[in-house]
Amino acid sequence: MKTITIKKPDDMHLHVRADDALRSVVPFSARQMARAIIMPNLKPPITQIEQALTYRKQIQAAVPQGLSFTPLMTLYLTDHTTPELVIQAKEAGIVAFKLYPAGATTNSDSGVTDLFRLLPTLQAMAEVDMPLLVHGEVTDENVDIFDREAVFIERILKPLMDQVPDLRIVMEHITTSDAVRFITQTNDSRLAASVTPQHLLMNRNHLLVGGVRPHHYCLPILKRESHRQALLEAVSGCHASFFFLGTDSAPHPQNAKECTCGCAGIFSAHAAIELYAEAFEEAGALHQLEAFASQNGARFYRLPENQETITLIKQEQSIPESFDFGMQKLIPLRSGQSVAWSLA
Ligand code: NCD
Ligand code: ZN
Repeated sequence: MKTITIKKPDDMHLHVRADDALRSVVPFSARQMARAIIMPNLKPPITQIEQALTYRKQIQAAVPQGLSFTPLMTLYLTDHTTPELVIQAKEAGIVAFKLYPAGATTNSDSGVTDLFRLLPTLQAMAEVDMPLLVHGEVTDENVDIFDREAVFIERILKPLMDQVPDLRIVMEHITTSDAVRFITQTNDSRLAASVTPQHLLMNRNHLLVGGVRPHHYCLPILKRESHRQALLEAVSGCHASFFFLGTDSAPHPQNAKECTCGCAGIFSAHAAIELYAEAFEEAGALHQLEAFASQNGARFYRLPENQETITLIKQEQSIPESFDFGMQKLIPLRSGQSVAWSLA
Protein backbone atom coordinates (compact mmCIF):
# COMPACT_ATOMS: atom_id res chain seq x y z
CA MET A 1 0.00 0.00 0.00
CA LYS A 2 1.24 3.51 -0.83
CA THR A 3 2.44 5.43 2.25
CA ILE A 4 4.21 8.72 2.82
CA THR A 5 5.92 9.91 6.00
CA ILE A 6 6.45 13.61 6.58
CA LYS A 7 7.44 15.89 9.43
CA LYS A 8 4.37 16.81 11.49
CA PRO A 9 2.64 19.69 9.68
CA ASP A 10 1.70 23.16 10.95
CA ASP A 11 -1.60 24.83 10.08
CA MET A 12 -0.72 28.44 9.35
CA HIS A 13 -4.36 29.65 9.21
CA LEU A 14 -6.92 28.19 11.60
CA HIS A 15 -10.20 29.28 13.21
CA VAL A 16 -11.09 27.50 16.45
CA ARG A 17 -13.85 29.82 17.80
CA ALA A 18 -14.52 29.86 21.57
CA ASP A 19 -16.05 27.93 24.49
CA ASP A 20 -17.90 24.69 23.63
CA ALA A 21 -17.25 25.13 19.92
CA LEU A 22 -13.53 25.49 20.61
CA ARG A 23 -13.51 22.34 22.72
CA SER A 24 -15.20 20.44 19.87
CA VAL A 25 -12.73 21.39 17.15
CA VAL A 26 -9.29 21.80 18.77
CA PRO A 27 -8.78 18.00 19.16
CA PHE A 28 -9.05 17.53 15.37
CA SER A 29 -6.16 19.91 14.70
CA ALA A 30 -4.11 18.67 17.67
CA ARG A 31 -4.23 15.14 16.26
CA GLN A 32 -2.46 16.04 13.04
CA MET A 33 -0.84 19.47 13.39
CA ALA A 34 2.07 20.44 15.64
CA ARG A 35 1.32 24.16 15.67
CA ALA A 36 -1.30 26.50 14.28
CA ILE A 37 -1.62 30.21 13.62
CA ILE A 38 -4.88 31.08 15.38
CA MET A 39 -7.14 33.63 13.71
CA PRO A 40 -8.40 36.46 15.95
CA ASN A 41 -11.87 37.07 14.43
CA LEU A 42 -13.88 36.18 17.52
CA LYS A 43 -16.87 38.18 18.75
CA PRO A 44 -15.47 40.52 20.03
CA PRO A 45 -12.20 40.26 18.07
CA ILE A 46 -8.86 39.59 19.76
CA THR A 47 -7.30 43.04 19.59
CA GLN A 48 -5.36 43.13 22.88
CA ILE A 49 -2.39 41.10 24.11
CA GLU A 50 -4.11 39.98 27.33
CA GLN A 51 -7.10 38.68 25.34
CA ALA A 52 -4.78 36.66 23.12
CA LEU A 53 -2.96 35.16 26.09
CA THR A 54 -6.26 34.16 27.73
CA TYR A 55 -7.46 32.71 24.43
CA ARG A 56 -4.23 30.73 24.10
CA LYS A 57 -4.84 29.16 27.55
CA GLN A 58 -8.36 28.13 26.51
CA ILE A 59 -7.01 26.46 23.40
CA GLN A 60 -4.24 24.70 25.32
CA ALA A 61 -6.82 23.43 27.84
CA ALA A 62 -8.76 21.80 24.99
CA VAL A 63 -5.79 19.77 23.69
CA PRO A 64 -6.39 16.07 24.51
CA GLN A 65 -4.00 14.36 26.96
CA GLY A 66 -0.92 12.94 25.30
CA LEU A 67 -0.95 15.29 22.30
CA SER A 68 1.21 18.34 21.91
CA PHE A 69 -0.19 21.26 19.96
CA THR A 70 1.09 24.82 20.11
CA PRO A 71 -1.31 27.67 19.30
CA LEU A 72 0.50 30.68 17.84
CA MET A 73 -1.46 33.82 18.56
CA THR A 74 -2.35 36.75 16.33
CA LEU A 75 -4.00 40.10 16.96
CA TYR A 76 -6.76 41.64 14.88
CA LEU A 77 -5.64 44.86 13.22
CA THR A 78 -8.09 47.74 13.66
CA ASP A 79 -8.12 51.45 12.80
CA HIS A 80 -6.85 51.98 16.36
CA THR A 81 -3.87 49.59 16.47
CA THR A 82 -0.85 51.66 17.59
CA PRO A 83 2.90 51.23 16.99
CA GLU A 84 3.29 50.81 20.77
CA LEU A 85 0.92 47.84 20.74
CA VAL A 86 2.95 46.27 17.95
CA ILE A 87 6.16 46.52 19.99
CA GLN A 88 4.48 45.14 23.13
CA ALA A 89 2.89 42.32 21.13
CA LYS A 90 6.26 41.30 19.78
CA GLU A 91 7.65 41.15 23.32
CA ALA A 92 4.65 39.10 24.45
CA GLY A 93 5.20 36.44 21.77
CA ILE A 94 2.34 37.39 19.44
CA VAL A 95 3.40 36.07 16.02
CA ALA A 96 1.45 38.29 13.59
CA PHE A 97 -1.32 40.83 13.02
CA LYS A 98 -4.28 39.98 10.79
CA LEU A 99 -5.78 42.48 8.39
CA TYR A 100 -9.47 42.06 7.66
CA PRO A 101 -10.73 44.83 5.40
CA ALA A 102 -13.90 46.00 7.21
CA GLY A 103 -16.84 43.86 6.08
CA ALA A 104 -14.76 41.41 4.01
CA THR A 105 -15.79 38.21 5.77
CA THR A 106 -17.14 36.51 8.91
CA ASN A 107 -16.71 38.75 12.01
CA SER A 108 -14.83 41.51 10.20
CA ASP A 109 -17.00 44.47 11.27
CA SER A 110 -14.14 45.86 13.39
CA GLY A 111 -11.73 45.54 10.47
CA VAL A 112 -9.63 48.26 8.92
CA THR A 113 -11.41 50.98 6.93
CA ASP A 114 -8.29 52.62 5.42
CA LEU A 115 -5.05 50.69 5.64
CA PHE A 116 -2.97 53.62 4.46
CA ARG A 117 -3.89 55.62 7.57
CA LEU A 118 -2.07 52.94 9.60
CA LEU A 119 1.37 53.47 8.04
CA PRO A 120 3.18 54.19 11.35
CA THR A 121 1.74 50.95 12.78
CA LEU A 122 2.75 48.97 9.69
CA GLN A 123 6.21 50.55 9.82
CA ALA A 124 6.53 49.40 13.44
CA MET A 125 5.63 45.86 12.33
CA ALA A 126 8.37 45.97 9.74
CA GLU A 127 10.85 47.23 12.34
CA VAL A 128 10.15 44.47 14.87
CA ASP A 129 9.77 41.80 12.15
CA MET A 130 6.09 41.18 12.88
CA PRO A 131 4.37 39.76 9.76
CA LEU A 132 1.06 41.14 8.49
CA LEU A 133 -1.42 38.47 7.42
CA VAL A 134 -3.88 39.79 4.87
CA HIS A 135 -7.38 38.74 3.94
CA GLY A 136 -6.74 39.83 0.37
CA GLU A 137 -10.13 40.95 -0.88
CA VAL A 138 -11.47 44.46 -1.43
CA THR A 139 -14.90 45.21 -0.02
CA ASP A 140 -15.94 47.79 -2.63
CA GLU A 141 -19.52 46.86 -3.52
CA ASN A 142 -18.84 47.78 -7.14
CA VAL A 143 -16.27 45.01 -7.46
CA ASP A 144 -17.60 41.59 -8.43
CA ILE A 145 -17.09 38.96 -5.72
CA PHE A 146 -15.03 36.81 -8.11
CA ASP A 147 -12.65 39.73 -8.83
CA ARG A 148 -12.06 40.94 -5.29
CA GLU A 149 -8.71 39.22 -4.81
CA ALA A 150 -7.22 40.46 -8.09
CA VAL A 151 -8.38 44.02 -7.36
CA PHE A 152 -6.94 43.85 -3.82
CA ILE A 153 -3.51 43.10 -5.28
CA GLU A 154 -3.62 46.20 -7.48
CA ARG A 155 -5.30 48.62 -5.11
CA ILE A 156 -3.86 47.60 -1.75
CA LEU A 157 -1.06 45.05 -1.84
CA LYS A 158 1.21 46.66 -4.43
CA PRO A 159 1.04 50.17 -2.90
CA LEU A 160 1.48 48.67 0.58
CA MET A 161 4.64 46.84 -0.45
CA ASP A 162 5.98 50.03 -2.02
CA GLN A 163 5.22 52.17 1.01
CA VAL A 164 6.43 49.73 3.67
CA PRO A 165 9.13 47.83 1.82
CA ASP A 166 10.41 45.82 4.80
CA LEU A 167 7.03 44.55 5.96
CA ARG A 168 6.71 40.76 5.68
CA ILE A 169 3.30 39.74 4.37
CA VAL A 170 1.30 36.54 4.04
CA MET A 171 -1.45 36.66 1.48
CA GLU A 172 -3.89 34.29 3.17
CA HIS A 173 -5.95 31.62 1.43
CA ILE A 174 -5.12 32.65 -2.13
CA THR A 175 -7.58 31.55 -4.80
CA THR A 176 -6.54 32.97 -8.17
CA SER A 177 -3.89 32.79 -10.87
CA ASP A 178 -3.53 36.56 -10.32
CA ALA A 179 -2.30 35.97 -6.76
CA VAL A 180 0.01 33.14 -7.85
CA ARG A 181 1.50 35.32 -10.59
CA PHE A 182 1.97 38.28 -8.27
CA ILE A 183 3.76 36.18 -5.65
CA THR A 184 5.99 34.29 -8.06
CA GLN A 185 6.89 37.45 -9.99
CA THR A 186 7.62 39.38 -6.79
CA ASN A 187 9.91 36.45 -5.99
CA ASP A 188 10.91 37.91 -2.64
CA SER A 189 10.99 36.05 0.67
CA ARG A 190 9.04 38.86 2.35
CA LEU A 191 5.86 37.83 0.50
CA ALA A 192 4.36 34.34 0.90
CA ALA A 193 0.89 32.78 0.74
CA SER A 194 -1.19 30.13 2.45
CA VAL A 195 -3.38 27.80 0.39
CA THR A 196 -6.46 25.91 1.64
CA PRO A 197 -7.49 22.35 0.78
CA GLN A 198 -10.82 23.51 -0.66
CA HIS A 199 -9.21 25.85 -3.17
CA LEU A 200 -6.83 23.08 -4.32
CA LEU A 201 -9.61 20.50 -4.65
CA MET A 202 -12.72 22.38 -5.76
CA ASN A 203 -13.88 24.99 -8.23
CA ARG A 204 -17.05 27.06 -8.29
CA ASN A 205 -19.04 24.26 -9.92
CA HIS A 206 -18.72 22.44 -6.61
CA LEU A 207 -20.58 25.36 -5.05
CA LEU A 208 -23.27 25.98 -7.64
CA VAL A 209 -23.93 23.04 -10.00
CA GLY A 210 -26.94 20.84 -9.26
CA GLY A 211 -28.08 23.08 -6.41
CA VAL A 212 -26.36 25.55 -4.11
CA ARG A 213 -24.03 23.85 -1.60
CA PRO A 214 -23.83 26.01 1.50
CA HIS A 215 -21.07 23.84 2.99
CA HIS A 216 -18.84 24.72 0.04
CA TYR A 217 -19.33 28.44 0.58
CA CYS A 218 -16.27 30.18 1.97
CA LEU A 219 -14.42 33.43 1.45
CA PRO A 220 -12.61 34.03 -0.72
CA ILE A 221 -15.25 32.23 -2.77
CA LEU A 222 -14.32 29.17 -4.88
CA LYS A 223 -13.14 30.24 -8.34
CA ARG A 224 -13.19 28.76 -11.86
CA GLU A 225 -11.16 25.65 -12.74
CA SER A 226 -8.29 27.54 -14.40
CA HIS A 227 -7.56 29.24 -11.06
CA ARG A 228 -7.57 25.90 -9.25
CA GLN A 229 -5.07 24.63 -11.80
CA ALA A 230 -2.88 27.68 -11.14
CA LEU A 231 -2.90 26.88 -7.41
CA LEU A 232 -1.92 23.24 -8.03
CA GLU A 233 0.92 24.50 -10.23
CA ALA A 234 1.94 27.03 -7.55
CA VAL A 235 2.35 24.47 -4.77
CA SER A 236 4.23 22.03 -6.99
CA GLY A 237 6.15 24.28 -9.41
CA CYS A 238 9.55 25.89 -9.22
CA HIS A 239 8.36 28.68 -6.90
CA ALA A 240 6.65 26.26 -4.48
CA SER A 241 8.69 27.49 -1.51
CA PHE A 242 6.55 30.67 -1.33
CA PHE A 243 3.39 28.65 -0.58
CA PHE A 244 2.40 26.81 2.57
CA LEU A 245 -0.39 25.00 4.36
CA GLY A 246 -3.15 27.09 5.95
CA THR A 247 -6.45 25.26 6.09
CA ASP A 248 -8.70 28.23 6.93
CA SER A 249 -10.80 25.56 8.63
CA ALA A 250 -13.70 27.77 9.72
CA PRO A 251 -16.44 25.92 11.63
CA HIS A 252 -19.98 27.27 11.80
CA PRO A 253 -23.02 25.49 13.28
CA GLN A 254 -25.15 23.70 10.69
CA ASN A 255 -28.07 26.11 11.14
CA ALA A 256 -25.85 29.13 10.45
CA LYS A 257 -24.79 27.58 7.12
CA GLU A 258 -28.15 26.18 6.00
CA CYS A 259 -30.37 29.27 6.06
CA THR A 260 -31.42 32.24 3.96
CA CYS A 261 -28.12 34.08 4.57
CA GLY A 262 -25.55 31.41 5.34
CA CYS A 263 -22.13 32.12 6.86
CA ALA A 264 -18.89 31.77 4.91
CA GLY A 265 -16.51 29.08 6.13
CA ILE A 266 -15.62 25.43 5.44
CA PHE A 267 -14.62 23.04 8.22
CA SER A 268 -11.70 20.83 7.17
CA ALA A 269 -9.64 20.23 10.31
CA HIS A 270 -10.96 16.64 10.70
CA ALA A 271 -9.05 15.45 7.61
CA ALA A 272 -6.90 18.39 6.55
CA ILE A 273 -3.60 16.70 5.74
CA GLU A 274 -5.42 13.81 4.04
CA LEU A 275 -7.26 16.29 1.79
CA TYR A 276 -4.01 18.03 0.91
CA ALA A 277 -2.50 14.61 0.09
CA GLU A 278 -5.31 14.09 -2.44
CA ALA A 279 -4.54 17.43 -4.06
CA PHE A 280 -0.78 16.84 -4.17
CA GLU A 281 -1.31 13.37 -5.62
CA GLU A 282 -3.47 14.91 -8.35
CA ALA A 283 -0.65 17.37 -9.08
CA GLY A 284 1.88 14.50 -9.20
CA ALA A 285 3.67 16.22 -6.34
CA LEU A 286 3.35 14.01 -3.25
CA HIS A 287 7.10 14.38 -2.77
CA GLN A 288 6.49 18.13 -2.25
CA LEU A 289 3.79 17.74 0.39
CA GLU A 290 6.29 17.83 3.26
CA ALA A 291 7.83 21.14 2.17
CA PHE A 292 4.36 22.68 1.79
CA ALA A 293 2.94 21.28 5.03
CA SER A 294 5.91 21.27 7.38
CA GLN A 295 8.79 23.43 6.13
CA ASN A 296 7.85 26.48 4.05
CA GLY A 297 5.56 27.96 6.71
CA ALA A 298 7.98 27.27 9.56
CA ARG A 299 10.72 29.00 7.61
CA PHE A 300 8.55 32.06 6.93
CA TYR A 301 7.60 32.34 10.62
CA ARG A 302 11.22 31.65 11.69
CA LEU A 303 10.20 28.56 13.67
CA PRO A 304 12.22 25.36 13.98
CA GLU A 305 10.92 22.44 11.91
CA ASN A 306 8.98 19.85 13.86
CA GLN A 307 10.90 16.68 14.62
CA GLU A 308 7.92 14.34 15.07
CA THR A 309 6.55 12.70 11.93
CA ILE A 310 3.18 11.51 10.65
CA THR A 311 2.48 8.76 8.12
CA LEU A 312 -0.27 8.92 5.52
CA ILE A 313 -1.63 5.74 3.90
CA LYS A 314 -3.45 5.59 0.56
CA GLN A 315 -6.52 4.05 2.17
CA GLU A 316 -10.02 5.44 1.90
CA GLN A 317 -11.47 6.98 5.06
CA SER A 318 -15.19 7.60 5.53
CA ILE A 319 -16.18 11.03 6.77
CA PRO A 320 -19.15 11.23 9.19
CA GLU A 321 -22.24 13.21 8.18
CA SER A 322 -21.67 15.57 11.09
CA PHE A 323 -19.75 16.17 14.30
CA ASP A 324 -21.01 17.55 17.61
CA PHE A 325 -20.27 21.25 17.89
CA GLY A 326 -21.17 22.39 21.39
CA MET A 327 -24.96 21.97 21.49
CA GLN A 328 -25.12 22.11 17.70
CA LYS A 329 -23.96 20.12 14.67
CA LEU A 330 -21.00 20.78 12.41
CA ILE A 331 -20.99 19.58 8.80
CA PRO A 332 -17.44 18.75 7.73
CA LEU A 333 -15.94 18.91 4.24
CA ARG A 334 -16.78 15.59 2.48
CA SER A 335 -19.65 14.98 4.90
CA GLY A 336 -20.99 11.44 4.37
CA GLN A 337 -18.37 10.81 1.68
CA SER A 338 -14.75 9.72 1.77
CA VAL A 339 -11.17 10.93 1.48
CA ALA A 340 -8.62 8.86 -0.42
CA TRP A 341 -5.92 9.03 2.25
CA SER A 342 -5.83 8.15 5.98
CA LEU A 343 -3.49 8.94 8.86
CA ALA A 344 -1.66 5.84 10.08
C1 NCD B 1 -13.76 32.62 7.97
C2 NCD B 1 -14.55 32.46 9.26
O1 NCD B 1 -15.62 31.86 9.24
O2 NCD B 1 -14.08 32.92 10.31
N1 NCD B 1 -14.60 32.28 6.86
C3 NCD B 1 -14.21 31.89 5.63
O3 NCD B 1 -15.06 31.71 4.77
N2 NCD B 1 -12.94 31.68 5.35
C4 NCD B 1 -13.21 33.99 7.87
C5 NCD B 1 -12.14 34.15 6.84
O4 NCD B 1 -11.04 33.58 6.96
O5 NCD B 1 -12.39 34.82 5.84
ZN1 ZN C 1 -9.76 32.41 7.73
